[in-house]
Amino acid sequence: MNAREILSKAFKEHYAIGAFNACNIETLKAIINAAKKFQSPVLIEASDGEANYIGKKELAALIRIYRQEYGVPIILNLDHGVSFDSCKEAIESGFDYVHFDGSKLPFDENLSIATEVVKLAHQHNVLVEGEIDHIEGSSADHTKEDPKSYQDASHYTDPEQAKEFVEKTGVDTFASFVGNLHGLYAEELHLNLDILKKIRQAIPNTFLSLHGGSGINDDEVKEAIKTGITKVNVNSEMRVTFKNTLQKTLNENSDVAFYKLSKEAIEATQSVVEKKIELFGSRNKV
Ligand code: 13P
Repeated sequence: MNAREILSKAFKEHYAIGAFNACNIETLKAIINAAKKFQSPVLIEASDGEANYIGKKELAALIRIYRQEYGVPIILNLDHGVSFDSCKEAIESGFDYVHFDGSKLPFDENLSIATEVVKLAHQHNVLVEGEIDHIEGSSADHTKEDPKSYQDASHYTDPEQAKEFVEKTGVDTFASFVGNLHGLYAEELHLNLDILKKIRQAIPNTFLSLHGGSGINDDEVKEAIKTGITKVNVNSEMRVTFKNTLQKTLNENSDVAFYKLSKEAIEATQSVVEKKIELFGSRNKV
C-alpha cells in the first residue's frame, strides 16, 4: 500500500496513524518494534535537523529495508520542511511524504511555494502536507511552563482560509491549529473541536493532521480522530522518555558498550509508541 492508500484506509475506518519522529537508529527501532508488535501502520517522520543527522538518503534506505524485514506499512515523512529545497531533497531521496511548513511566511508566499512543492511531489507520487497557522512551541520539555503563554486562540485556523489554501495548492493533508502545541507542558492541552469540525466540513476531501500529539487530553484526541484526523504527530513524549531513561542507565552503569546501554531507553520509548498506537486506534490495522 502506498501513503495515500494507508491514510485513506485510516480515514474510512476512523482511526489515525501515528507520525513518530526519529533521528537515530535507537528511536527508529523503538517505533518499528511497536508497529510490528501491534501490527500497526506508522509514519516515521524527521525534521530537516533530525533527517540530516542520519542523512536523508540513508534514512530512506533504512526505511526501505525495515519495510521489507518487518512487513508493516511505513510512510517516511519530512516533518516541517521549511523551504522548497528541503522538500525537493527529501522527495529526491525517496521520502513518501513531505510537510512543507510555510506558516511563518506571508499567506501568498506560503501558497505559492506549497503549490510548487505539490507539483514536484505529485510527479514522484509523494504526498504533501501544508500548514498556514504556525503551531507554536517546540518538541521539548516545557513542563515548567504554562501552555497558555503559547496559546493565542485568535491564531487558530480559519476554516475558510484553510479551504482557499487547499483548493489553490492541491495539498493532500492540512495541519490544523486548534489548541494543539508542540511540546510537553505543566497542564494537559485541550482542543477546540468545534473549529476542527468546521475545518473538516470546509475541506472534506483532504486528510487532516494533528501536530503536537504529546500531552493532549486523550478523550479529545479520540474525538478529534472521530472528527476526521488521520495523522497525529508525536515527538516530545518520546524524546523525554528516551533521554530520562538513558540518563538513568548511564548514571547506574559503568559499561561502555552503547548497544547494551541503550536497550532500556529503546524499550521505554517503544512503550510510549505502543500507548499512542492504542489511543489512535491503529492496532491490528495492517
Ligand atoms: P510533540 O513534540 O508535541 O509531540 O509534537 C510533535 C510534532 O507535532 C512534530 O511535527
